[in-house]
Amino acid sequence: MKEEIKNKVLELTDIVDVIGEVVDLRKRGTNYIGLCPFHQEKTPSFTVSPEKSIYKCFGCGKAGNALTFMMDYYGYSFQESLKILASKAGIRLEETKSKKNNEQLSKRDLILEILEKANEHYHKMLMTTSGKSVLAYFHNRGYKDETIKEFYLGYSNNSWDEILKLLKKQGYEETLIAESGLLVKNEENGTYYDRFRGRAMFPIQDKFGKVIGFGARILTDDKDQPKYINTPQTLVYDKSKTLYGLFQAKNEIRSKKYAIMVEGYADVISLHQAGFKNSISSSGTALTNDQLTILKSYCKKIYFVYDADEAGIKATERGLELAIRQGFEIFIVLLPKGEDPDSLIRKHGKQLFSKYLDEAIDFIEFIIEIKRKQTNINSPTEKAELIRYLLDLITKIPDRLQHDIYISKIASSLNLTEKQLEAIYSEKNKLETKEKSKETHTNLQRTENKGEQTKAFEKTNSDKKEIEEEILPEEKIILHYILKKPEILNELDKKYKILKRGLITNRAERLFRILVQIISSGEKITEKLLENDDDNSYNQSEKSLLLELILKEDALINEQASSNWKDYIRGLKTTDSIKPLTDAYLNMEIIRIDRELKELKSKIKEIDFEQQKELLKNIDKLFKKKAQILKIFETN
Ligand code: GTP
Ligand code: MN
Repeated sequence: MKEEIKNKVLELTDIVDVIGEVVDLRKRGTNYIGLCPFHQEKTPSFTVSPEKSIYKCFGCGKAGNALTFMMDYYGYSFQESLKILASKAGIRLEETKSKKNNEQLSKRDLILEILEKANEHYHKMLMTTSGKSVLAYFHNRGYKDETIKEFYLGYSNNSWDEILKLLKKQGYEETLIAESGLLVKNEENGTYYDRFRGRAMFPIQDKFGKVIGFGARILTDDKDQPKYINTPQTLVYDKSKTLYGLFQAKNEIRSKKYAIMVEGYADVISLHQAGFKNSISSSGTALTNDQLTILKSYCKKIYFVYDADEAGIKATERGLELAIRQGFEIFIVLLPKGEDPDSLIRKHGKQLFSKYLDEAIDFIEFIIEIKRKQTNINSPTEKAELIRYLLDLITKIPDRLQHDIYISKIASSLNLTEKQLEAIYSEKNKLETKEKSKETHTNLQRTENKGEQTKAFEKTNSDKKEIEEEILPEEKIILHYILKKPEILNELDKKYKILKRGLITNRAERLFRILVQIISSGEKITEKLLENDDDNSYNQSEKSLLLELILKEDALINEQASSNWKDYIRGLKTTDSIKPLTDAYLNMEIIRIDRELKELKSKIKEIDFEQQKELLKNIDKLFKKKAQILKIFETN
């Protein structure tokens, strides 16, 4: 039953869609490739096959299906992953929730469940007598009912134990409620009390819409209390990996191809309501690399809107540098002093915000603008310092083609002479070599690590140290076809008796027998290959090679293959035609015959006349067979 649901969910899930949320995937043949989200890399070796509904990284070896991706990447449990994918696919899973069942749910699941319950409660509170004033507060801020609903805003009653009691009554352990971030421990007597009391509640959702934490705003002007308090780090909430509003904004960010990055919860909501639905916030922290990595799968352009105060500028500068390094195109929206997007829109309407958005400046102008205020740009030393700072930023842009554009911007903004520009370029070259040597250094370290891994691998395999013959290109094609279309095995056997004759090289033959075994057991090949049981008749590297042969066209090419062969493989339209398979098979047979012939010929001098006669007969047979095959080739 469970298996059935799992298969159904996997069947209806578009794995490219799921992984495409976090990895920039590019189509390559029938597959998609991108940079692996599980390890650092510069050239893509992460492959997703929509056809087989699996992914595999040929750099770090991570592999699996959409469900394992949800678990490995996001850390969701199996159940939670299943639920998310099911709802994405529009399937309703039966809710079988009883106390007993709760014991089987993972801690993460339970915490998410607790947060969902708490959120529903806070939201409903807006409709109660005590919550009425908070609803009025939201209305007062200009939020419409549908906005309040869309962002699931709420109210936490001014009580020390309302949420604690409520959740306990529903059967949740006190310690678990505390672990979800809803409670605070009284260190003196070890008891717990509600963290959020008498505050307007802003639930923080992950990008699938699951509530993972809360921001809570004070309702009074009490300066002794923090304006906002937030859920601390928990098993499900890490603010450095969260972008507030992403769930509501992600589609719009994708289609508009840029995100508006603001500071506060209130800003996101106001902007969203005013139609700038691609707004998100780094939720009260300076923008982090993790947040940018998440955003990168939705857009490559960010409009930063930050307060013009000192702290705001500092935060912008830091976020800007990280974003530049990650290859984002950056614009900065400068609002009048003392205004944030929320207040601006409330006072002056969305048109004015739109105007500021249109007048956004790029990062070069932004930095020159703020430095102009902070320093005396007419002093040669300070001007040089500013230029150096800007150059340093520019060299961090991964796309070298953009460098010149920005340098000419500097030149015109700062009225530089040609001589000064020349100096800039030579300085830039120096900076670049510095960056590069840093890069090579880390790359070297990486290869060293890799070397160690291979060594370790070789050690465990040292008992079969005999140097194995490389698999023939033809064999790779045959394996590739069987992997892609297991039904072909039958046909091959009928036509060529492949089961009896097998393949030529030891390695290929071993892989072939593995495949035959899986196919005859009726199991799904990819699933079997993704399994992680160790007591299999074949090792991890063999599984890996087989996966490679399904997924990577390159894998069909040998290092030493001729350029003709490489062209042939690249031109191969796998699966739709059987001809390459037949060709490969016949080619292999010819190689087999040639090898047999060679062996027979080498023996001929060592044997007596009678034996020779026998042998020559055999040679003749082989020749005829070869001629036959070549004839098939011609007519093919
Ligand atoms: P409103 O006054 O409701 O419009 O809030 P705002 O979003 O304009 O707040 P502000 O510009 O003062 O702060 C921006 C963001 O910083 C907020 O949305 C919070 O995420 C965070 N923040 C503000 N005040 C506090 C605080 O006292 N404590 C913490 N931890 N975060 C805060
Ligand atoms: Mn504000």
